[in-house]
Amino acid sequence: MDRFHGKGKKAYNPETLALGYGYDPFLSEGSVKPPVFLTSTFQFRSAEEGQRHFELAYHLRPPRASEVPGLIYSRLNNPNLEIFERRMAAWDQTDEGAAFASGMAATSTLAFTLLRPGDAVITSAPIYGGTHYLLQHVLPQFNIEATFVQAGDDTPGLVAEAADRLGPERVRMVFLETPANPSNTLVDIRAVADVVENIKHRSHKDCWLAVDNTFLGPVFQQPKLLGADFVVYSATKFIGGHSDLIAGVLTGGLEQVQAVKLTRTILGTMANPFTGWMLLRSLETVSVRMRRQAKTANKLARLLLKHPKVRSVRYPGLLEPGSNQHAVFSKQCTGAGSLIAFEVDGGVRGAQACLNAFEVARLAVSLGGTESLVEHPMTMTHSDVPQEELEKIGVSPGLIRMSVGLEHASDLARDLRHALDAVP
Ligand SMILES: Cc1ncc(COP(=O)(O)O)c(C=O)c1O
Repeated sequence: MDRFHGKGKKAYNPETLALGYGYDPFLSEGSVKPPVFLTSTFQFRSAEEGQRHFELAYHLRPPRASEVPGLIYSRLNNPNLEIFERRMAAWDQTDEGAAFASGMAATSTLAFTLLRPGDAVITSAPIYGGTHYLLQHVLPQFNIEATFVQAGDDTPGLVAEAADRLGPERVRMVFLETPANPSNTLVDIRAVADVVENIKHRSHKDCWLAVDNTFLGPVFQQPKLLGADFVVYSATKFIGGHSDLIAGVLTGGLEQVQAVKLTRTILGTMANPFTGWMLLRSLETVSVRMRRQAKTANKLARLLLKHPKVRSVRYPGLLEPGSNQHAVFSKQCTGAGSLIAFEVDGGVRGAQACLNAFEVARLAVSLGGTESLVEHPMTMTHSDVPQEELEKIGVSPGLIRMSVGLEHASDLARDLRHALDAVP
């Protein structure tokens, strides 16, 4: 199946491509579903073919007309990963994808591809804790400086100011996470992309915009269409979708993703073939799952809003029309997703009493699975963030994060009311 159809070469919708694109059944005995290619290595038809495959894999020469890279060894390439990567690129409306062993493997491999000693990165905060640690503690060991700017309406201006301070020629990457975890704060991707263009213009050097699209992508947000160079995911979350695997993926322009894949080959951060197969299975239902989860989340967010023991609710579907955040939401998101952050009375004790009383939602970190999950950011996912920073990023003692799953909405509503009743 081709990605495009008809004379006008219009693209099929990603839901359709997720079922057939990038795989030829007749290369696998007519099997409608791709088999799992559990092999570490691939046999060459001749020594010359092996030589040609390596020349392309290591970018020793450009491909000849209609020449495609051949399969070599599963650290470099594997059919299960390649089919998944093509389908993810289709979802994100990009050229190419790369699958990884985890979301952190995707982000760190990207960083090691783009950044060199002396370079600087500007990042929005809050951001996922592992990414924060990579930027704050690991990259500085390689003389790469990270600057954090507050996620929100002012982010584009703050990125521009930080670039002026650092010197535009040093800023080689801007990394955003929107909506931010756990506050659900949105950053205007297009406006930051314009700032990145300006940085490039002034420095005459490359500067790349990467967006962690884990919370809303690939269904409700396509950062590439808003000017991002790289779209990064923890595929452990909605893409995998069943809380039964750890994986990552990034998509972007052909040349850029090929460079990242070369680093992946050397670092060995690729996903394994079975995970690739699981991701393919999951990608077939990602749209159905995410839309249904978002529909239920919308109902629960409204229930929370009216509850006397709930102080505040942060959910993109509840943004005030007329506010800047609502304008950003309308511009760049086609759905509000299924992560809700809400603050209960009674601080940590109130939140813990509530969390201990859930009967349907599970008390566990992670998100985006078929089952609902609840957690306490201050003492769990964000427990290593200094106290004063927690306040700035909106992680209060009573804050609970809920990832809404596929259970029946009325059962989840009952569970939520029951858990809130336990707040003293
Ligand atoms: C927004 C976000 N990005 C990246 C990651 C890292 O992904 P992984 O756990 O697959 O390495 C996570 C994990 O929770 C996340 O929530």
